[in-house]
Amino acid sequence: MEIKLIPLQTHGDDRGCLVSLEQSKNIPFEVKRVYYMFDTKQGVSRGYHAHIKLKQVAIAVKGSCRFILDNGSERVDIILNNPAQGLLIDSTMWREMHDFSDDCVLMVLADSFYDETDYIRDYNQFKSLVNNGKLSD
Ligand code: TYD
Repeated sequence: MEIKLIPLQTHGDDRGCLVSLEQSKNIPFEVKRVYYMFDTKQGVSRGYHAHIKLKQVAIAVKGSCRFILDNGSERVDIILNNPAQGLLIDSTMWREMHDFSDDCVLMVLADSFYDETDYIRDYNQFKSLVNNGKLSD
């Protein structure tokens, strides 16, 4: 299973670092929404869903967390701990986030507004949709 990590150019100088995110340039879609998670309590995991259409890029702008991406037949673990790296999450991926560091700020850019009807929150339903070719990019 291919994991798409996007290297984000860091503009660093003796003052520190700056990363710029631009829609349809280093972010491969039109950005409609940005949200971020922080102050995640110890031992808490989030996610546990896939989407019908939504594409997203996740960036640990501070701290770290562990992603699980699952395409219905394979599961991959990825540690996000680099503010200069984006993880592209296609809609058809089941995703879970675990092991948030206390200082983790996980920012997500999305190509659509929040829409609860785009969520698939049942893993067995996800597996059956993906295995029957009912979900596609
Ligand atoms: P939730 O889907 O539970 O987050 P996660 O998948 O990370 O566990 O979202 C938490 C709450 O925030 C829920 O009430 C829906 C709301 N929410 C929005 O209003 N807008 C958004 O863009 C997102 C992602 C969530």
